[in-house]
Amino acid sequence: MEKIYFDNGATTCIDNEVLEEMMPYYNKYYGNPSSLHSFGVDAANAIDISRMKIAKILNAKQDEIIFTSGGTESDNLALKGISYSFKEKINTKDNHIITSSIEHPAIIETCKYLQNQGYNVKYLPVDKYGLVKIDDLENAITKNTFLISIMYANNEIGTIEPIKDIGKIAKKYGIIFHTDAVQAVCKTPIDIKKLNIDLLSISSHKIYGPKGIGVLFVKNGIEVIPIIHGGGHEKNIRSGTLNTPGIVGIGKACELGQNRMNIDIPHIKKLRDKLINNLLKISDTYLNGHPTKRLVNNINFHVKNIDGESLLMMLDEKGIATSTGSACSSKKLYSSHVLKELGLNQNQLQSSLRLTLGRENSEEEILYASELIPKVVKKLRQISPI
Ligand SMILES: Cc1ncc(COP(=O)(O)O)c(C=O)c1O
Repeated sequence: MEKIYFDNGATTCIDNEVLEEMMPYYNKYYGNPSSLHSFGVDAANAIDISRMKIAKILNAKQDEIIFTSGGTESDNLALKGISYSFKEKINTKDNHIITSSIEHPAIIETCKYLQNQGYNVKYLPVDKYGLVKIDDLENAITKNTFLISIMYANNEIGTIEPIKDIGKIAKKYGIIFHTDAVQAVCKTPIDIKKLNIDLLSISSHKIYGPKGIGVLFVKNGIEVIPIIHGGGHEKNIRSGTLNTPGIVGIGKACELGQNRMNIDIPHIKKLRDKLINNLLKISDTYLNGHPTKRLVNNINFHVKNIDGESLLMMLDEKGIATSTGSACSSKKLYSSHVLKELGLNQNQLQSSLRLTLGRENSEEEILYASELIPKVVKKLRQISPI
């Protein structure tokens, strides 16, 4: 058995079709897309096509797609860009942002930064499955709330938030609504109009595109103050020479992801459900996150009397790549703020493991993992001091 990759929530491989489409933009159509000559025009045309593909999967307009360097920058741009625009309109002390307590660090840390700048941030609690409660959201709104930022789906536990209801509330109170959809794009259809979404973050390397490129969808008419200043690219919202190969890549990845959704979703879901079923047969093993309102590719579970990191290492030795938390944190000594918010105790936090499947995983791999993981757990329990 070749190595098995169950860490698609951290990053995916680049799809060959995506790579092929990108390659000519490194050494053939390498002009600066802002240049007036034909080299520049070729690059600019490719960027237009990519913008169109991305707009199409969101039901957005082409000029509402802003290219960034990835999910982190898109989240920063959304939160700071909107906050700064309100800073100019009303007194800083009266500003109010609502987010959730289980957001990715790209949101949480940006919110903390904004708090240091004088903004007020409310971190909504979640229930034991990781769901934000709509009543809590509505009760948290003040006359000064100008932004709600709640993730579409959680990167650690895969819980899908009630985005449609959140969008309705935001619209009812006239509040701008941003969602970090980094983990949700291409795993569930997203229509920004039906969901009343004003801003939405995408990252290419989670959807079989290249690393270092992302998108912020910004609904026309919404003012976003730039956080990177320069030549005025991207409607003066995000300066910097455009990364043509990366942009071609994310466009192709979105198009492919959209076209393949009716094949990929049932395939991955079937594998995920089979593996969850088999894992839960291990004694004292529990699923983290919601049983049904979860991303098709996400499995997160805790196993009593097991150290998650030891389980990860032993599985890696046997050729299975998994993770204990979000990728940006998994190399630090880390205890998941997400699992803590669900109410898990320290032992449960430390005994958790995340498996995120992808389109290339097979039934054979699921069977192999289903046989191997209980054996590794048994071995670890035998040597566990707990
Ligand atoms: C939910 C979520 N938001 C934001 C990010 C950051 O994206 P990027 O790695 O493109 O900066 C990630 C990456 O793990 C994520 O899972």
